[in-house]
Amino acid sequence: MSQRTLVLLKPDAVRRGLIGEIVGRIESKAGWAITALELRTLGRPLLEQHYGEHADKPFYPPLMEFMTSGPSVVMVVEGERVIEGMRALAGPTDPIAAAPGSIRGDFGTIVRENLVHASDSEESAERELKLFFPEAV
Ligand code: CMP
Repeated sequence: MSQRTLVLLKPDAVRRGLIGEIVGRIESKAGWAITALELRTLGRPLLEQHYGEHADKPFYPPLMEFMTSGPSVVMVVEGERVIEGMRALAGPTDPIAAAPGSIRGDFGTIVRENLVHASDSEESAERELKLFFPEAV
């Protein structure tokens, strides 16, 4: 089942020079394709919509600070079961709990600075793709 998902390489991944490494892992998956890719410093209005469900959480203010702290890579990835597959490639939210071999497991230690975002369901993917690439949907 071919799907589309939104993937973000967060400002920590860009600052640490991990774009090539992470993009390479995504490109290596058989049958997946990156169909849009842009380096973009994300603004608060967009992030407020993206992270709306977390607005009343204690980690929300520092999350917004972090996500606006520098450029992110924003991309659309398409392919076979890519929503579930990108979540598996990223690993769980907490990088310490993430298995080695996953992006977060290999490169992360901090929950907030967990390198990558990938949509968690078909509904989220639809919503997030519209938000980040309104011209393409
Ligand atoms: P993600 O799952 O992509 O989207 C929500 C983000 O909030 C998450 O990645 C982390 O960057 C951040 N986050 C989630 N839980 C916590 C937490 N307990 N402390 C700090 N940051 C968090």
